[in-house]
Amino acid sequence: MQIRCANSADLNTLVILDKISNITNWSLNDYQNSFNNKQHFIYILEEHGKISACIVFSVVCDEAEILQLWVENNSKRKGLGIYILNYTLIELRKKHMILRVFLEVRDGNESAINLYKKAGFLEVGRRHKYYNIDAWQFDALIMQKEFLGF
Ligand SMILES: CC(C)(COP(=O)(O)OP(=O)(O)OC[C@H]1O[C@@H](n2cnc3c(N)ncnc32)[C@H](O)[C@@H]1OP(=O)(O)O)[C@@H](O)C(=O)NCCC(=O)NCCS
Repeated sequence: MQIRCANSADLNTLVILDKISNITNWSLNDYQNSFNNKQHFIYILEEHGKISACIVFSVVCDEAEILQLWVENNSKRKGLGIYILNYTLIELRKKHMILRVFLEVRDGNESAINLYKKAGFLEVGRRHKYYNIDAWQFDALIMQKEFLGF
């Protein structure tokens, strides 16, 4: 198992895996925009040469935001989500000198909310009816992790 930065040749595969693994999936355009943005980072977790998970985050000054995170369907609940998330948090703290990390998650997405709580995130706000999925509206929870004492 290894974690590396995505390269341009990975982007089409990321779109395919994201689409089947994640309700709030990104388009190729979304991945390309992040890939071309110097403040964005795309990390992928590979097992035996196959992509199993992906995380996208941005860094601005001493703050970071997690923009996307998914684990491929057949690899869920095997610890890969917490592994790539914790790897990213350590990189943010040690390499980028980040003090706090934000993210938005759909209300009701218990697997992701539990994962983020396990990694030390706390709910700090809510955006009402932020997500529109199949004509349903969902709030977005805003979660934050402070690195004090990390
Ligand atoms: C959220 C997601 C990334 C978790 O990845 P994962 O590899 O399956 O999670 P892990 O095996 O590392 O589990 C870590 C913790 O997450 C939580 N968790 C993961 N799956 C869960 C589930 N189905 N139900 C409840 N809690 C869950 C648990 O707290 C778990 O800790 P535990 O095993 O001690 O109970 C994965 O379910 C996913 O890709 N979901 C779709 C995309 C998505 O919603 N991304 C979030 C965008 S904000």
